[in-house]
Amino acid sequence: MTAPRTITLAYTGASGLPYGLRLLECLLAAECHVYLIYSSVAQIVAKQECGLTIPTQPREAARFFAERFGARDAQLTVFGRDDWMAPVASGSNPADAMAICPCSMGTLGAIAGGLADNLIERAADVMLKERRPLVLVPRETPLSAIHLENMLKLARAGAVILPPVPGFYDRPQSVADLVDFVVARVLDQLAVSHTLGPRWGEERIAGPAPGTRPA
Ligand SMILES: Cc1cc2nc3c(=O)[nH]c(=O)nc-3n(C[C@H](O)[C@H](O)[C@H](O)COP(=O)(O)O)c2cc1C
Repeated sequence: MTAPRTITLAYTGASGLPYGLRLLECLLAAECHVYLIYSSVAQIVAKQECGLTIPTQPREAARFFAERFGARDAQLTVFGRDDWMAPVASGSNPADAMAICPCSMGTLGAIAGGLADNLIERAADVMLKERRPLVLVPRETPLSAIHLENMLKLARAGAVILPPVPGFYDRPQSVADLVDFVVARVLDQLAVSHTLGPRWGEERIAGPAPGTRPA
């Protein structure tokens, strides 16, 4: 798999920011260039769930995340939610793929309704109209008929609806394992290489390790 050069990653105010942080770490480690956008409620969720104070100023936020994840110079660009001069605001310069992780029902509904009222919604709108990969990681439970209809509408418009629902067949030992299960599926959809966790059936194809006997 070849890594797309540029990925737009958005954080919104749904629970699940640990998925989004791990995704950013993996995208940077995979040498992607990342455009990061976050909502003001995502900042509240970051404080609540991770004890993180994400700076409001995009430049400060870029420094904050670059230091945290060891990003190279210019590998990470943070855009304000109202920065209409950002490349991702236009179909003439979209990213290769976009993920909203976590995605609130509010943002999901706004994208389904075509509102494009802030840069997250507009960048997602652009991905759909340009037929580029858009991965939404929506989090709410239970789901109302409105949530489900919005998700169906988006899936029909070409988005990938990827709820953070980890499988247990790899026998996860920690919260980090559960997070990695979901992030691995998002990276697969973004066509970004990773080595997060085993893939189903790979041992069978590779055969027994040298010196071992089949049971
Ligand atoms: C701590 C916290 C957790 C929240 N969790 C969720 C959630 O899991 N799913 C959801 O759809 N909304 C959740 N919300 C509500 C949204 O943040 C709210 O609807 C907001 O308007 C979404 O705006 P945004 O999409 O621009 O971030 C949460 C809010 C807070 C403060």
